[in-house]
This record gives sequence, structure tokens and C-alpha cells, in this order.
Amino acid sequence: MLLILFGTVVAFVALVYIFLTWEFGFWEKYGVKGPKPKILLGNIPYLLTKKRHTVYNYDQLYIKAMAHLMDEVCEHMTDYLRTQAKSSDGVATLDAKEVMAKYTTDVVASCIFAIDAQSFVKENPEIRLMGKRIMNFNFVVQLALLVTTFFPSDAIRYRKENKINRTDFLDHLLQLQDRKQITDIDIAGHGVSFFADGFETSSIVLTYCLYDLAKYPTIQQELRDEIAKAKQAGGGTMLYEQLGEMALLEQIICESMRIHPLMAVMAKRCTADTTLVGPKDRKIFVKKGTTVVLPYYSICFDAEHFADPYKYDPKRFAAENGGSKAYRERGVYFPFGDGPRMCLGMRFAVTQVRRAIVEVVERFSISVSSKTIEPFEMDPDQFMLMPKGSIWLDFKPIA
Ligand code: HEM
Repeated sequence: MLLILFGTVVAFVALVYIFLTWEFGFWEKYGVKGPKPKILLGNIPYLLTKKRHTVYNYDQLYIKAMAHLMDEVCEHMTDYLRTQAKSSDGVATLDAKEVMAKYTTDVVASCIFAIDAQSFVKENPEIRLMGKRIMNFNFVVQLALLVTTFFPSDAIRYRKENKINRTDFLDHLLQLQDRKQITDIDIAGHGVSFFADGFETSSIVLTYCLYDLAKYPTIQQELRDEIAKAKQAGGGTMLYEQLGEMALLEQIICESMRIHPLMAVMAKRCTADTTLVGPKDRKIFVKKGTTVVLPYYSICFDAEHFADPYKYDPKRFAAENGGSKAYRERGVYFPFGDGPRMCLGMRFAVTQVRRAIVEVVERFSISVSSKTIEPFEMDPDQFMLMPKGSIWLDFKPIA
């Protein structure tokens, strides 16, 4: 009897162990290291704490500490726009996507490796050129090139040899290196990935936000008033905290990301047999391993979820309507993806986008240039959804 009881307990423990660790070896098989399942607890502790990959687990404090690096780049951007305007009868007509890519390139380069990419100063800045090449379709080759030729050893060696203390992503990685045995190559890889993920997406979102504001001057002015109030509350400066408390700014970003999705579709791989239940209780069986394509573009313009979907209306994201949370919870708004593979740079991205919009709208009156081809026709040569001929805006300094 005792033997049977003992055998049952052992079998039960073994089953629980297999159950808790079974699925989690998936990435390991492909050589991607993840959290090690704990005996008897599997990966449940990580699920409960929602711990992300340790490399991207930098918190709000890190982003706050990096905010002044964004301020510096904003100063360079303003100088650049003013100089351009001065040399063209007081109004700078520029490819907004290129200006915003210069901004995000400089912010991301500064926040990762303390490199001043000088995109607003140099004629052909190297890092901006590399960024352009990365976004070419020959992605892997370019990424390898960037890792091996530029970033890794120089910045890491310089930082270590000179004992420099600077709160940025490289500092975060170097601290992890001591604690988690991360190699220099790992650091370089994560740094380059941060760079590639960080500049293109945000620059496109920024371009669309500015385009919408240029189209709707009344909303542009309302935002300018909100910025003035926020600065007043911060004693004359735009503090990091104030950036996150501007309701209209938030609504504008959400609406631009809805009305101009960066990708037409998103894909998710199903990791376990599942039955999806649709309208009228229609059931769809999805077999493990199937790639499910989410028609994100169509969802964004579905009148069932967004009233008058082709209308630009930031107020649909107002707090009294439930904010973006209401749409996210219904699963119809996910510009940063969703689930365990959701965008890891979301907080950083939102901060750099907010900061640039504030800078431009406070200091420039913006309107759509006649060089912009409307209505938009998407450019098939671009990795993300951007119109042919790009988006050109007129930037007029506000005295
Ligand atoms: C406004 C700008 C951005 C947008 C709209 C955006 C959007 C997205 C989306 C839609 C995904 C796929 C998520 C999914 O499949 O569920 C993603 C993944 C990712 N993003 Fe972003 N992103 C932005 C900025 C950034 C920045 C600045 C970084 C890094 C600093 C970053 C790092 C990543 C990474 C590492 C992943 C892969 C996550 C994983 O596979 O676990 N993103 N992003």
C-alpha cells in the first residue's frame, strides 16, 4: 500500500514537472536561451512576475535618465530646422520622414552607445547611412556589417577603459554583463537590434503625427496651448513627468497610429492547439504551429470598432471614452503588438515620439507642403507603410 502511495506521488510529481517545463524548451531547441525552468515550478514564477528578456528589462527610471539625451538632440533638430528656414525665405520645406529619421537615429545612437551621430550637422552622417542600409531588404547582411564593423568593441572598450558612468542602454548592458555573463558579441547584437528596432518605426510614427497636425491646424494650436500649460507647470521647462501627462498629446499619437498603421498585417505562431470563437459562436480550430495572420490594417478601419473610421479624431482616445485601454482590451488596437512578444521598446519609443512632437509644435508652425503626393499611394519598396514620394512639410519658425 505504502509502495503504491509512494509510486503515485512520484508519478504525480514527474507529471507536474513535465507539464510545467514541456513547452518552454521551444526556443532552446533553436539555440535561443531563455529563462531556466525552476524544478517543480517551471516558468510560472517568470509568468507571474511578467519578467521580460533581461536585456530589455530597463525600467522607467532608465528612460527618465535618458530624457536629457533626447533634449540635446531636440536642440540640434531645432537649430537645423531654423537654419533651413532662414536659407529659404523663412519656411523650411523638408522631407519630414528624413528629418524625423535624423532625430531618432541621433537619439537611439546617443542612448545606446553615447555616440553623437551628428545627423543634423554632417552632410553624410555614417550612422544615418548605416540606418538606411539596414532598412534595405538585404537586412541580414547589413546587420552583420554593422555588428562587425562599427559598434561592438570600440564603444564597449572605451567605456570600460575610461570608467565612464553614463545612464544609457550600454551602461545597462555592461551592468548585466557582470551579473549574467553576457559576452561582448551579445552586447553588440542587442545594441544593434535596439538601434534597428528603435529608429525606423518611431520616425515613421512621428512623421504621420506631424502630418496629421499639419492637416488639422486647430488641433495643432490646441496642442501648442497644452504644451505651454505643461511647461508652466514644470516651472518653464518640459519635465519628463509632464510629457506623460499631456492628454491631448497622448490622444494625437494614438489616433495617428490607428489611422496610419505601420504594417498591414501582423503574424503570430500558434504554440498550442486552440479553438477561436468568433461572431455568432463560430468556432475555428487552430492547430499548433499554424501561423495566424492578423489583418491589423482592416481592423483599424472597421466601423464596428471605430466610429467613422476614416475621420481623424484624436478624441476617440479621450479618457472619458475609456482611452486606448478600452480598444486594447477589446483586442482591436495593438500598434505595439500584444502578448508575450509585444514590442519591447514601447516605453522608450513613446517617450522619444512625445518629446519630438513637443519640440516641433512648440517652435514651428507646420503645414503640408505641395510636394506631398495626396492621396497617399503606399511605396512597395518600403519595409513599413510609407507613401510614395514621402511626406513633405513646411516648417515655419514661431517667433
Ligand atoms: C513607435 C514605435 C514602435 C512601434 C509602432 C513598434 C511596434 C512593434 C510591433 C508591432 C512589434 C511586434 C509585436 C508583436 O508581434 O506582438 C514590435 C516588436 C519589437 N519591438 Fe517595437 N515598435 C516601436 C519601437 C521600438 C523601439 C524604440 C524598440 C527598441 C528600442 C523596439 C523593439 C522591439 C523589439 C525588440 C521587438 C521584438 C519583441 C519580441 O519579439 O519579443 N520597438 N514592435
